[in-house]
Amino acid sequence: MTTFLYQITDLHIREPGRLAYGRLHTAPYLQRAIETVQSCPQPPTAVVLTGDLTDFGRPEEYAHLRELLAPLTCPVYLLAGNHDDPAQMRLSFPDHGYLGTQGALQYSVPVGDLQLIALDTTTPRQSHGTLCETRLQWLEEALEAARDRPVVIAMHHPPFTTLIGHMDKIGLLSGGDELAQLVSRHPNVERVICGHLHRAIDVRFAGTLASTCPAPAHQVVLDLHPDAASQWNLEPGGFRIHAWQPGTGLISHTRPVGAFEGPYPFHMGGALID
Ligand SMILES: [Fe+2]
Repeated sequence: MTTFLYQITDLHIREPGRLAYGRLHTAPYLQRAIETVQSCPQPPTAVVLTGDLTDFGRPEEYAHLRELLAPLTCPVYLLAGNHDDPAQMRLSFPDHGYLGTQGALQYSVPVGDLQLIALDTTTPRQSHGTLCETRLQWLEEALEAARDRPVVIAMHHPPFTTLIGHMDKIGLLSGGDELAQLVSRHPNVERVICGHLHRAIDVRFAGTLASTCPAPAHQVVLDLHPDAASQWNLEPGGFRIHAWQPGTGLISHTRPVGAFEGPYPFHMGGALID
């Protein structure tokens, strides 16, 4: 059986009717992303949302998010980003028991044949990420407990440089080296999947692969100058599908949001159409 872990990230949901950045209705983009998920031939075993679920972490924003997520019938795992309020997430999603009740919002859950280990990288009232000793100690124990299973680590702030200068300035500013040491001791970590960047980026990291994921609505402008302006645009949104197949490994795909022209056949009567 193949496990399909879908990753959606950086939804930035606002109160109903309220625009993000005075310009963008993020909710319809999430609705279309969920419609696209539901149109995929292989349904998700689970969906993980890797942070920035809302823009300001307000109760009304999470209530709106709850409504928007309702069509998803598979397990949905929430993770906090720098725009979230972990305490409010626990209050707004009391039925999501894996969120726990106190401390860092971290958890380890099975998703099909995979073990999903979610890390809390948020720094209260700051945009950058942090992994303190307590969070890393918890990770070490979670990795030890999952020693015989393929692991996907999910976290909001990526533990790598992206070359998008203004995002690197608010990246994971502490704990990254210690995380790399831990990951390098656990070859069963198949992937470190992250949000925050609103784009798909892939990097070699500590003997495994680390990646980010497009957002459903707005993307961070692709400009690799260290002083590039902090800007977003409406390049096509997307999400990722991390598929685990026993004996093959973890294969990560990126799916743009939307319905597109096609499909059309390559062949007719056994021959390539000329
Ligand atoms: Fe974001």
